[in-house]
Parts: sequence; structure tokens; C-alpha cells
Amino acid sequence: MKTDDLEDLRKHPIGVFDSGMGGISVLRELVKVMPHEDFIYFGDSVNAPYGTKRTEEIRELTIHHVEGLMAQGAKGIVVACNTATSAAVAVLRKMYPELPLVGIEPAIKPAAVQNPGARIVVMATPMTIRQEKFQKLMAHYEDQIRIVPLPCPGLMEFVERGDLEGEDLRTYLHELLGEVSREPIDGIVLGCTHYPFVRKMIQEIVGDNVTIYDGGPGTAREMRRRLAQNDLLNPQQEQGQVTFYNSRNTEEELALCRSLFRA
Ligand code: DGL
Repeated sequence: MKTDDLEDLRKHPIGVFDSGMGGISVLRELVKVMPHEDFIYFGDSVNAPYGTKRTEEIRELTIHHVEGLMAQGAKGIVVACNTATSAAVAVLRKMYPELPLVGIEPAIKPAAVQNPGARIVVMATPMTIRQEKFQKLMAHYEDQIRIVPLPCPGLMEFVERGDLEGEDLRTYLHELLGEVSREPIDGIVLGCTHYPFVRKMIQEIVGDNVTIYDGGPGTAREMRRRLAQNDLLNPQQEQGQVTFYNSRNTEEELALCRSLFRA
């Protein structure tokens, strides 16, 4: 690439995609590690939840929206959705080998490294758990920790409604975690980017001795590494801008995005 083109490209925004509002938990981490970057965030709330859809449908939607972010000039893309990552990132990498592209997967590795022999519950969408990618990840760590996959259909919807601490959510989580809590839990992996927004209530229910793992910070660091490798970090000194788009482009939806970003 010519120096002028590279100089220009460094100033382009980073695109962040999720099926809805969940990826904002990753966006917050991205802004922490790269405060001078501009970001465009796109959430596909109209088609959410992805976690109960067929793989082909998730793949098509993800490719379409990632291409939309590229058309807006994104110099790199974070697929801030575990479900979309497992369904589409391998294909996207083949389609756009030059693009700095980072996906997210359940943070089983740090849970295994820090707790050998532990019993770890992985909360994720039914789709993420069914995918071969997850099954392989689980098999990889199975001789180091005991992994209990916990599909959570219906949980992301609370976040999409902005309900982060209501009584209905508490009842839902009590029921969901009741069965797996019969035996002691050492750690919980939040394998969906919506779940960090309800982390406080999960912690209240399982107690302070259970460590909760979120893949967001590691994903953000990985994106910074990839951009640095490609000499694509933005040299500007000012704080970057964050712009939100959503397929349900109402003022209410965008206001919820901004409030989750500050949460
Ligand atoms: N936020 C998404 C994830 O990380 C999934 C939510 C959904 O659309 O089901 O898997």
C-alpha cells in the first residue's frame, strides 16, 4: 500500500458488529484499550436473536452486515457476537484475507488456566453450544477442567429490552442456574456478549466465590494487536468518536445503545 493510502486508512473507524446490543460490552473494552480510535457499531436488533437461528441464516446476515461496515470505510472489523463468530468468521476470513478481522469466543482458556480441575459453567446461546467450533473448544480443555455448557434461550432478550435488574430477570436466572448449582461451581464463562450486562445479578445469585469470565477484554486486546501489526492504529491525539447504528433505527433503540455503552 502507498504511504498516503496507509496514512488515510489509519484514520478510518473500526467496525463492530453484533446481533443487537450485546456487542456494546465488547465496544466498551475496545474504547478502553484504544481511546484514540473512532468506532462504528452496528446491531441487528431486527433479526435478533441470532442464537436460535440456523447457521446458514446467521452466516448470511453476518456477512451482509460486515460488508455494510466495510462499505462505510471500516479499516478492521470486530464480530462482537459469539454466535456470529462461530457461524461466519472462518468464511469471512477466506473472503477478505487482508482485513484485520477479530471474532469472539467463550473465554474457556483463562478459566482453565486459572482453575485446573475446576467445574466451569459456560453460559451461551443454544446455537453457539451446538456449533462444531464450541464442541472443539470444549474437547480441547476437557482434560483440564469440567465444562458444563448451559444454553440460555431468552436471556439476551432482557438486555435488548434494557432490563438489567428487574424481578423477571432474577426469576429467569434463578431457574436457569438452579440445576447447575446443585454441585459447586468454580467459575462461569459468559459465552454471549449480551451477558456481561447482567453479570451483577448472575454474581449475586451464584455468590462471590464464583469467578466470572468475559471474553470482551481479550478480544479488544487482540484487535489492538492486529491493527498494530498492520501499522493501522490511529495517530490522532483526541478521544475517538463512537457512532451507533441499529437495524431497528428508532431513537429509543439508539438511546438504549448509548445508555448500555455508559452502563
Ligand atoms: N450477542 C450474541 C452472542 O454473543 C448472541 C445473542 C443472540 O442474538 O442470540 O452470542
